[in-house]
Amino acid sequence: MKFYDVIKSRRSIRGYLSKPIPGDALQRIGEAVSLSPSACNLQPWKFLIVVNPEFRQKICKVYNQPWLAQAPAIAVVFGNHEICWKRLNGQPIVDIDVGIAMEHLVLAAAAECLGSCWICAYDIAAMDEALQVTPPWTTLAISPLGYPAVKTEAPKRKPLSEVFEVMI
Ligand SMILES: Cc1cc2nc3c(=O)[nH]c(=O)nc-3n(C[C@H](O)[C@H](O)[C@H](O)COP(=O)(O)O)c2cc1C
Repeated sequence: MKFYDVIKSRRSIRGYLSKPIPGDALQRIGEAVSLSPSACNLQPWKFLIVVNPEFRQKICKVYNQPWLAQAPAIAVVFGNHEICWKRLNGQPIVDIDVGIAMEHLVLAAAAECLGSCWICAYDIAAMDEALQVTPPWTTLAISPLGYPAVKTEAPKRKPLSEVFEVMI
């Protein structure tokens, strides 16, 4: 798919087929993630693609949605607030770095005709415990990965003029 077609076709998908994801597609998605920019190129992330059913069940206990359990894989991204670059006021930049890398994953998945859905609305402490993640690492986001079982309409966006301006 062409880049802008990928951007337009991507939706948050909340319904999945059990069809497995080919290994080469996962490999290309991994490469797309590793090409993501990060402040000072510190790459303060680790991605885990969970196919293992017992491990997926642990995640689904913390974020309990039937559509997450349907997906044949769950992408998990861990961020490290110590090894990342810090803003001039000392604030760690890890959320931005990880957000960009996760969006590389989401867009690469769309280019592979795979659905995904950013998920952050879980209890972080419970997710870290379930995945045995310890500080300075933490589970910043997860996403199901799989072939969509549903067709999702594009939710309305704010008018372009409200959110994007070219100042000459
Ligand atoms: C940072 C972030 C966190 C999100 N967390 C959740 C979530 O916890 N659960 C969920 O169902 N969707 C979540 N979403 C998906 C949004 O609801 C979705 O992107 C938005 O409604 C726009 O729809 P679209 O992705 O299909 O364009 C999240 C999206 C982002 C970017």
